[in-house]
Amino acid sequence: MNEKVVAKTFENKFKSSPSIAVRAPGRINLIGEHTDYNDGFVLPAAIDKAIYFCLSKRNDNTVILNSVDLNDEHELSLDDIKKSNKDWANFLIGVIKEIKDTNPKLNAGFNLTFGGDVPLGAGLSSSAAIESGLAYALNELYNLNFSLLDLAKIAQSAEHNFAGVRCGIMDMYASLMGKKGKVIQLDCKNLTHTYLPFEMDDVSVVLFNSGVKHNLAESAYNERREQCEEGLSFFQKNYAEINSFRDLSFETLEKHKADLDAKVYDRCLYVLSEEDRMKRATVALTEGNLEAFGELMYQTHDGLKDDYEVSCDELDFLVDLTKDKPGVLGARMMGGGFGGCTINIVKKDAVSDLIEAVKVAYLSKFDINIEHFQVQITDGCSVIYELA
Ligand code: GLA
Repeated sequence: MNEKVVAKTFENKFKSSPSIAVRAPGRINLIGEHTDYNDGFVLPAAIDKAIYFCLSKRNDNTVILNSVDLNDEHELSLDDIKKSNKDWANFLIGVIKEIKDTNPKLNAGFNLTFGGDVPLGAGLSSSAAIESGLAYALNELYNLNFSLLDLAKIAQSAEHNFAGVRCGIMDMYASLMGKKGKVIQLDCKNLTHTYLPFEMDDVSVVLFNSGVKHNLAESAYNERREQCEEGLSFFQKNYAEINSFRDLSFETLEKHKADLDAKVYDRCLYVLSEEDRMKRATVALTEGNLEAFGELMYQTHDGLKDDYEVSCDELDFLVDLTKDKPGVLGARMMGGGFGGCTINIVKKDAVSDLIEAVKVAYLSKFDINIEHFQVQITDGCSVIYELA
């Protein structure tokens, strides 16, 4: 699925060419997992898997949403924006609602066709790409004058209010502000970023899609967030100088281990440890030391498995499998957890042997034909000018 198919579908359906076409990429995250909603740092990047949008304004207040991938359609009125019983449509309706409530310039309906190649439920943020991409496209089409940060916040609110997941801002930020060849060092407390180089001359980023998405994923995500909030609120009450996890030390956490629920303690320990790894990972990356960086990725996986408890057998198996394979510098589960992809940094000359070994082992263990992707780091959302 690419932009040309989306444009053709739009033309066939709406009998005219779209006024605008937009590309919104999915994302990877190198390190800094479950830290975005804990005022931490993350290291994501936009990738060469994207959702494409074609749109034109209408003369009435009707909005027609057309999904190429699902071959489905949903219609609504700007005068009465409410949730649909179609999950896919809610990601888009949430964005329309957030914008309509704050910006009078969204004053006419539109026709939309969208589709892409970000695999669904694989932890590559297809939903954030859909939300960010629509927000970006409407901003262009209606001259709404939102900044990219405004758009990321709109997309995040849509996910909270219409999809029911209290996600952080990493996925939207990466989809909107990615930069070719760079990873984004995003400070989720201050909502500022810098770009760090990620040299891919000698290494590849390989994703293995576990092919599972355990039911727990959404409720457990919100539960982890609540546990972190509970932990932080304990320290805020007892220490005037503690506002966020950044102000909490390992020593203070240890001192109060017995005062905290055991799970809450584990979650806080993970958050502090991941922040510490994040700092070391940034140094390693800046120095071009991918061996040290990869070792930290393995440690992150252990933390996500044992302290944060968001991994699963399939992901653990995929990560363990790489440990004795030549040329693998680092591997870990990526994203929210309970399924989706692992991310692996692999020396280029070792990639094909690794893929073969993982395919054989995963099929024999789980009876699943594993999907893999070798991804490139790209720019974030953009208007596509060449559609023909
Ligand atoms: C999901 C969320 C993000 C982030 C990751 C975990 O992808 O959407 O905000 O919390 O999980 O790092």
